[in-house]
Amino acid sequence: MASKSARTRAGRKSNGFDDAIPVVHLKDIHKSYGDLEVIKGVELKARAGEVVTLIGSSGSGKSTLLRCANLLEVPQSGEIIFDGNPVHWKVKGSERVPADMNEVRLVRTNLSMVFQQFNLWSHLTILENVTEAPITVLGRSKMEAEQTGRKYLEKVGIVEKCDAYPAQLSGGQQQRAAIARALAMEPHAMLFDEPTSALDPELEAEVVQVIKKLAAEGRTMILVTHDMKLAQDVANHVVFLHQGVIEEQGNPSEVFGNTKSKRLIQFLSATVTA
Ligand SMILES: Nc1ncnc2c1ncn2[C@@H]1O[C@H](COP(=O)(O)OP(=O)(O)O)[C@@H](O)[C@H]1O
Ligand SMILES: [Mg+2]
Repeated sequence: MASKSARTRAGRKSNGFDDAIPVVHLKDIHKSYGDLEVIKGVELKARAGEVVTLIGSSGSGKSTLLRCANLLEVPQSGEIIFDGNPVHWKVKGSERVPADMNEVRLVRTNLSMVFQQFNLWSHLTILENVTEAPITVLGRSKMEAEQTGRKYLEKVGIVEKCDAYPAQLSGGQQQRAAIARALAMEPHAMLFDEPTSALDPELEAEVVQVIKKLAAEGRTMILVTHDMKLAQDVANHVVFLHQGVIEEQGNPSEVFGNTKSKRLIQFLSATVTA
């Protein structure tokens, strides 16, 4: 438990925001694609320094929920509240869209996402990948962005690859570069969408290690993962999503040690033997 309270303290110190207010708060989110309702009224909170892990079968809506959190998708109803500030909406045709692009920018720049497929720019070096958004979006000077970029490449253990191109790196190194790129925005929270799923087991371990280090530092994170050991090890709070609904949630020892829902029992036994 000591590490968890240290984590919260670290979160407070680095975040500088009122901890009573969640960094990310999704309220009664509903998201449909045509007639298919994918998210059916989900509430999710990540407080400063907290790691929330999101687990569930393929197709249960995990990626959609993360994409709603950073406004890559717009939910038809429900609220997205970031650092206590709700996103405002307007109606455009038959759809709801964000009313103020400044709010969208604020959410996107402060909520960095790490994707399963890394999504690095193949024509840019690793250092250029990491400095691109701080220069173009945050207006940092090249020198400052490079200094910060190297710091985070160092943190994920690949600073020696800064002049290489993504294709010259292993999958694990590419994902660590993608994590450094997310960190270089110095966001208030990070979203990870199955960051280790595209990796061979031996490369998975090096990315898991980085994620654990970030969790121990007190970073606010929402992590979608198929890796139940990781979900258990790093989480303050675990959420099990089933067909667009939260079927069970709680602290890791409750969710994994004293599982209540039949569906989660089934899911866990299937993943363990998979
Ligand atoms: N852009 C889209 N258009 C239509 N259906 C989608 C789209 N994105 C996701 N879906 C559907 O929404 C459901 C949830 O998908 P997703 O959020 O990717 O689940 P998960 O990440 O848990 O595997 C799936 O049935 C998927 O086919
Ligand atoms: Mg997904």
